[in-house]
Amino acid sequence: MDAKIVLLPGDGIGPEVVAQAERVLNQVAETAGHSFELSSHPMGGNAIDDFGDPLPSATLDACKDSNAILLGAVGGPKWDDPNAKTRPEAGLLKLRKELKLFANLRPIKTYKALLESSPLRQEIVEGVDILFFRELTGGIYFGGSSRSPHESGEVASSEMVYSTGEVERIVRLAAAAAKNRGNHLTSVDKANVLEVSRLWRQAAGDVVAKEFSDVNYDVVLVDAMAMHLISRPRDFDVVVTGNMFGDILTDEGSMLTGSLGMLPSASIGESGPGLYEPIHGSAPDIAGQGLANPLATILATAMLLRHSLGLEEEAALIEKAVDAVLDAGFRTKDIARGGESLSTTAMADKVLEVLKA
Ligand code: NAD
Ligand code: IPM
Ligand code: MN
Repeated sequence: MDAKIVLLPGDGIGPEVVAQAERVLNQVAETAGHSFELSSHPMGGNAIDDFGDPLPSATLDACKDSNAILLGAVGGPKWDDPNAKTRPEAGLLKLRKELKLFANLRPIKTYKALLESSPLRQEIVEGVDILFFRELTGGIYFGGSSRSPHESGEVASSEMVYSTGEVERIVRLAAAAAKNRGNHLTSVDKANVLEVSRLWRQAAGDVVAKEFSDVNYDVVLVDAMAMHLISRPRDFDVVVTGNMFGDILTDEGSMLTGSLGMLPSASIGESGPGLYEPIHGSAPDIAGQGLANPLATILATAMLLRHSLGLEEEAALIEKAVDAVLDAGFRTKDIARGGESLSTTAMADKVLEVLKA
């Protein structure tokens, strides 16, 4: 197969982890006889520095013209000035919106070999297998916002907005995924307080009742979900929720696996290229030290091959290689629990050794 894959290394540890995923992609191409045309483009803080824009139009065009996109992470303290004209994160939000990537799939699966890496007790995290569907192009991230003078100083607002159609399309995808897994769908909202959540709950319930009446369906308030997620995570199968709730709950959920450095994600729309990234950020606290765990990005590469290129077998090979490396006891510092650890590159070397074997 021929495929054009755009790499957006970004900032901080982004380039460090994307470099490892690139090695994995090249290895898969060689082993399976595919031709992947990889090209790197500026995005995020580095693009603000060089072009005054976190998503230069040439980068956006390259993304639109690709089969799939792999992103590291964007952002960092250098670009955190609250009065700055633009921010690295604005580029990522624009990319998601422009490509209509309304569904962000975030699998949270615990590894037997890593049970001890979780701060939670083994009997809680063993066997966890949750697939989050985070709505990605609506909600409070994209509602109107304002800032103006106020008698006490200033006043600011960020609006959380959802339409019936936006809720229906993400719930439909999540429910369809549930049918192919544990047949259990949980919708998370804050309908006891927010009008927008009452609409979410109604629209979600209607879609499930009309189109997926055979799926076991329940609703949970987001505050309680934050608690259930770490007290009884095994009770969940597919979870669907809005943009901000999904952002927060999945960072929390990463602790079930032991590290933010383990969770990949796929952002997809109705058609066109998907965007694949680790759920973590640019980790400025460890950038440039060879400490970043590359596995989340390597696993995001597997999701890219599966969802955008239809290469299920190759995706599974990467996931199996990651399993094997963890089973063999290799760890980066974030999952080493104080034991011996490998650098970013050395960890990827181990994955590549398995893929070449
Ligand atoms: P972060 O996810 O970058 O880091 C949180 C903590 O997790 C840090 O202690 C970090 O060292 C650790 N961590 C993250 N990824 C790791 C990895 N692969 N291996 C080992 N440890 C890892 O979150 P933050 O510090 O709140 O944000 C830093 C910047 O990243 C901010 O500018 C934020 O906006 C941005 N961000 C970007 C994305 C993205 O590009 N998709 C996602 C989240 C945050
Ligand atoms: C993520 C990040 C982004 C988000 C930021 C960087 C815009 O936290 O991908 O989870 O909030 O969506
Ligand atoms: Mn996040």
